[in-house]
Amino acid sequence: MIRLIFFVVISQMVSNCFADEISAISRGGLLYDRWYMVIDTKKPDYTHPAWPNSNISKSGSTTHRCKSCHGWDYKGRNGAYASGKYKTGISGIQYFSGGNKSEVLGILTNDLHDMGNWLTAKDLDDLALFVVKGQFDMTKFISVETNLVKSGDSNSGAKYYNTVCAKCHGAQGDLIKDMTPIGVIAHKNPWEVMHKIFNGQPGEKMPSMRAFGITVVMDIMAYVQTLKK
Ligand code: HEC
Ligand code: HEC
Repeated sequence: MIRLIFFVVISQMVSNCFADEISAISRGGLLYDRWYMVIDTKKPDYTHPAWPNSNISKSGSTTHRCKSCHGWDYKGRNGAYASGKYKTGISGIQYFSGGNKSEVLGILTNDLHDMGNWLTAKDLDDLALFVVKGQFDMTKFISVETNLVKSGDSNSGAKYYNTVCAKCHGAQGDLIKDMTPIGVIAHKNPWEVMHKIFNGQPGEKMPSMRAFGITVVMDIMAYVQTLKK
């Protein structure tokens, strides 16, 4: 009996620990996006010092988002931002997927990033956790040639979409008026949609679906790519 209670208590502690970690990773994923909305602070009104002069299409607060320099696909100059308005020539963060969290914390607080100036120790920790444990190799799931998902069952995705997403986004993905319809973003920028499904939307009630796992998320991705463009 004592042994059983001991076992139950320990396994409960272990699963609580994983539950805490998954929400910390998702919060880190939100910080990778518009971190200033996550911590509810005024966004920086100047261009990030590390933003290259060669890129004149972007300036101001957007140049402070991790994703603007390192990409929604986490591949920087080797991914979708090899060209286009966010071309910077900066590397991705994939090297640190599965890497050492304290090393990443060192990078986030170095002179170049200087994020200790904005974020608390807990924020930095969540962000570093996202970098080492929260990334996916998106080229495994999304074709770079066609932008279409490589796997995922859109019939099953429709069930998830209609029961989870449609309440806020509408059956066609165009219910939120100040937002580009989901079908349009899903074709133009599937990496962004995948990141947002996994982590949520900064400053909004949209939940993170990370705990559903990659198979469910790819089913949803397959379905949103069938919505009108
Ligand atoms: C204005 C651009 C810019 C922003 C914003 C930015 N970084 Fe960086 N980051 C860099 C540059 C430049 C390097 C050095 C690597 C290079 O030159 O390509 C770097 C390096 C890194 C590395 C090491 C990559 C490697 O393989 O060595 C990580 C990890 C990283 N950044 C994470 C982040 C995170 C997380 C954020 C969000 C707080 C962030 N960065 C925001 C420009 C930026
Ligand atoms: C509780 C409401 C809610 C739910 C549930 C929800 N979302 Fe959202 N979502 C939002 C809001 C609000 C925004 C921000 C809209 C804006 O920027 O105007 C958003 C933003 C997004 C964006 C980013 C749009 C952009 O341009 O930044 C995508 C993509 C998205 N949602 C997809 C989904 C998908 C797919 C699901 C289901 C797996 C989902 N959402 C579930 C409320 C929700």
